[in-house]
Amino acid sequence: MRQPLVAGNWKMHGSRESVVALLGALSTSVKCDAVDVAVCPAFVHLPQALELSASSPVSVGAQDCSAFDEGAYTGEVAAAMLADLGCEWVILGHSERRAYHHESDALVSAKLSAAIAAGLRPIVCVGETRTQRESGEAEAIVAAQLAGALAEHGNLAGLVVAYEPVWAIGTGLTATPEQAQDMHAYIRAELASIPGLDEQATRLLYGGSVKPGNADELFAQVDIDGALVGGAALVAEDFQAIVNAAA
Ligand code: 13P
Repeated sequence: MRQPLVAGNWKMHGSRESVVALLGALSTSVKCDAVDVAVCPAFVHLPQALELSASSPVSVGAQDCSAFDEGAYTGEVAAAMLADLGCEWVILGHSERRAYHHESDALVSAKLSAAIAAGLRPIVCVGETRTQRESGEAEAIVAAQLAGALAEHGNLAGLVVAYEPVWAIGTGLTATPEQAQDMHAYIRAELASIPGLDEQATRLLYGGSVKPGNADELFAQVDIDGALVGGAALVAEDFQAIVNAAA
């Protein structure tokens, strides 16, 4: 019922040369009859990525967008600009934006409104820090992030939520499949009280040190519908292997 989605978040990595190499490899190798595949390069590489993936099943997204429609907002990129370029997806509320750019749930919510208005498909990220998990607050933190970002929208059909425990990002530590499943089931239950979406149809991605070696057991969990992949998305064979595991 829920087609898996594997999205690569390239973060602030790459060059024009590496984009050609990575998308050249992926565009020919990725077979995604049973899985949706997306890559999210840095803003400056989006036009090139869109061109290189045009005749392939790989779709392209951005890693962020502005909460504003247009205007005097130096350095910002509007959701409508991304849609105009041909982007399909946008990642919102990534923990690195929350940590380094002080993004609040209210700002994530405003960005979500802008993304929806522009016709982009949003991937909203939530997740607790290590301290929050150790003090037993993980579920409360995630519930607050979901409510803060999602409560005020009329129509959230097609929304994707990514659960990315901050302690598992780029650390080599992965939530166990059981920890990830438990939180995904909790998120799905929380989504039931959010207006404008069908929680059973909403795809929930896991993110945080997803690798070819752990993808199978993560994807075997009933509430894990794919992955948001960081480091392993920069290596074509690894990303391909994760896509295959989801298919
Ligand atoms: P890593 O896969 O490198 O841990 O990154 C996960 C992530 O933050 C994806 O958005």
